Amino acid sequence: MRVRIVGAGYVGLCTAASLAYLGHEVTCVDVDPEKIAGLVRGELPIYEPHLAELLAVAPIPVRFAVPDDANAASAGPPELVFIAVGTPPGADGSPDLKQVAAAVRTITQSLGDGLTVVVNKSTVPVGSGNWVGSLIDDAQPPGARTATVVVASNPEFLREGSALMDSLYPDRIVVGSDDARAIEALVRLYQPLIEQDFAPPPFLPRPARTGRVPLVTTDLASAELIKYASNAFLALKISFINQIAELSERVGADIESVSRALGLDARIGSAFLQAGLGWGGSCFGKDTAALVATAHEYGLSMSIVEAAREVNYHQRARIVERLLAELKIMKGRTIGLLGLAFKPQTDDLRDAPSVDIARRLLARGAKVRVHDPVALPRARRELADVAFELCDTVDSVFRGADAVVLVTEWPEYAQLDWARCAKAMRTPLLLDGRNALPRDALTAAGLRYFAVGR
Ligand SMILES: NC(=O)c1ccc[n+]([C@@H]2O[C@H](COP(=O)([O-])OP(=O)(O)OC[C@H]3O[C@@H](n4cnc5c(N)ncnc54)[C@H](O)[C@@H]3O)[C@@H](O)[C@H]2O)c1
Repeated sequence: MRVRIVGAGYVGLCTAASLAYLGHEVTCVDVDPEKIAGLVRGELPIYEPHLAELLAVAPIPVRFAVPDDANAASAGPPELVFIAVGTPPGADGSPDLKQVAAAVRTITQSLGDGLTVVVNKSTVPVGSGNWVGSLIDDAQPPGARTATVVVASNPEFLREGSALMDSLYPDRIVVGSDDARAIEALVRLYQPLIEQDFAPPPFLPRPARTGRVPLVTTDLASAELIKYASNAFLALKISFINQIAELSERVGADIESVSRALGLDARIGSAFLQAGLGWGGSCFGKDTAALVATAHEYGLSMSIVEAAREVNYHQRARIVERLLAELKIMKGRTIGLLGLAFKPQTDDLRDAPSVDIARRLLARGAKVRVHDPVALPRARRELADVAFELCDTVDSVFRGADAVVLVTEWPEYAQLDWARCAKAMRTPLLLDGRNALPRDALTAAGLRYFAVGR
């Protein structure tokens, strides 16, 4: 099928690569001309494992263009247009939909005579599908109307870092529309994913036990709400275990045993029950705030989600308090942070706990040194206002440090030469903010080791 994707960010690029791999004709447009020029040269604007390889082997190459590029239209009018632009939080917590409105404007300029399905993949509040439909109607006055446009919601559940595995082997596909033609087109588009009858790329093998992918077809509003409810529930699980971890510290329990036993209960499940510094990234913070704002609009209080947010952001303050409790004075201290990206296997810095923690430490007069295996170039571009020192080597983070905090659990950080790290530090204090380091090896190497909830 002919597909246009509006927005070449994490979601747009991964969706484009996956759909092209399945044999669809995909064009991806973005308003950022530098991003597009880079993509045309084969340079990716994000770090996402296997994305370059997937784009290279897609049977029909993705064509990248800026929206008004004539070449973008030469493949013929698209049957499906995906909106995959950003929906950052506005001042009151509700998402800012300016990028969506602008995307709709460009979409209406490239409609064909036949049926076009406009698909919201961006996470947008309940009711946005209807709003997009009305924007499209407004852009095509009845007398001049030649195109038939129907709107659908197809929420995205990919996780950065494993985005392509999630796109090719999803747990479920959700398709919502109040028009059967939109559902029919999306089901046709995703047929190879639903049936799992495509040959997997060698570098993204199909996980064992992947069967037919469940498809949930529903109305627009339900599809929109499913996305928010999913993210809020995951956020809740993380905050729940973090609050239990705080209690564990007080009562002398070990959160690792507690969470293992909890997770073995099939009704609970072990995913998202790892105590630590809490969530970050572009989605959980923004989507939980949006859900709270939507509830308020309808006179409801989403108190459980508000509590989860409060617990989450408290983790960042708590780690600084623990450092202060150990070091007493922060002025003149040097604190090292291992990891900048909000989680491993991505370079995304949006709402990253590292940045929050660094700002708090800097405000208290500490020097902060940070390392990350992949996010340093992005940090140099996006975080020039934060007065931390970005270190190209892990050694520089430990050299002369009064404490080092593991913020992002990149696997390589679990395999450091701990004796060498301890020797390089001024005070051998290590706070494992993700409970991911080998405690016995660290203490054997002479480090004072602290973790979350232990
Ligand atoms: N990143 C994730 O893990 C994830 C997962 C699920 C859902 N989502 C949702 O998907 C949406 C996109 O997220 P993202 O992380 O890919 O964002 P992003 O910021 O990485 O990418 C958005 C892209 O859209 C482009 N853009 C903005 N306005 C445009 C316009 N008018 N026309 C064309 N391009 C335009 C931007 O230049 C940017 O490249 C958001 O609503 C987000 O909540 C994200």
